[in-house]
Amino acid sequence: MRKAIVAGNWKMNGNSESINELMGTLIASLQDLDAVEALVCPPAVYLSQVKSLIGNASIALGAQNASQFESGAYTGENSPGMLTDLGCQYVILGHSERRAIFGEKDADIAAKFNAAIDAGLVPILCVGETLEEREDERTMAVVGGQLKAVLDACGVESFAKAVIAYEPVWAIGTGKTATPEQAQDVHQSVRAIVAEYSAEVAAGVRILYGGSVNAANADELFANPDVDGGLVGGASLKPNDFIAICRAAA
Ligand code: G3H
Repeated sequence: MRKAIVAGNWKMNGNSESINELMGTLIASLQDLDAVEALVCPPAVYLSQVKSLIGNASIALGAQNASQFESGAYTGENSPGMLTDLGCQYVILGHSERRAIFGEKDADIAAKFNAAIDAGLVPILCVGETLEEREDERTMAVVGGQLKAVLDACGVESFAKAVIAYEPVWAIGTGKTATPEQAQDVHQSVRAIVAEYSAEVAAGVRILYGGSVNAANADELFANPDVDGGLVGGASLKPNDFIAICRAAA
């Protein structure tokens, strides 16, 4: 039995005041939701603030990125050890915005994945195809390639301590969600790829769907057998929507 996760990726949004307000509502409304792991991923500069707002509430904390290095002359970077020091349990890695805007390659993402595991963080490895790749019927070639690059570099056992997020690039921030069938197809294939390495790890790994998840479509997306929750962008900044999405995963 895989416990569902709903992760809010706030991206580069918010300020101290809006975060106080958002967290206040989430903490008050999610305290009875034991069936789902609710996770918030604020910008790195607000991690400490969010950690202290969470206190003893059962909301997990994650970062949106991490360095592959432990320490040293890497201006502007945050190491996985620093993130655990601030109370993070999770880190999003390989988000399509990191790949497309900041030029992260599979090898960089694999190095970050290893460093995160070594520091005790749970990586949320994002994979997903562009619209052009889908239209060319290369979805699984692309998604499978991104996944195997990390499986081969880091070993399947590390996926016993990781989460995978399928995020079709064409669905991110567009309001155009994958259909439940499209999501299930890819999630099932992703699990099958992990099973080529280890059936046991494949059965246990949680695979989240991300891309325009909202309060209206979460139910039907999460009803799929291989969809173990969501990675939510825009709707995670709207407390009532995020709460509804968390409840849909229960
Ligand atoms: O990490 C989250 C995804 O990029 C999804 O963003 O829900 O705004 O489409 P979105």
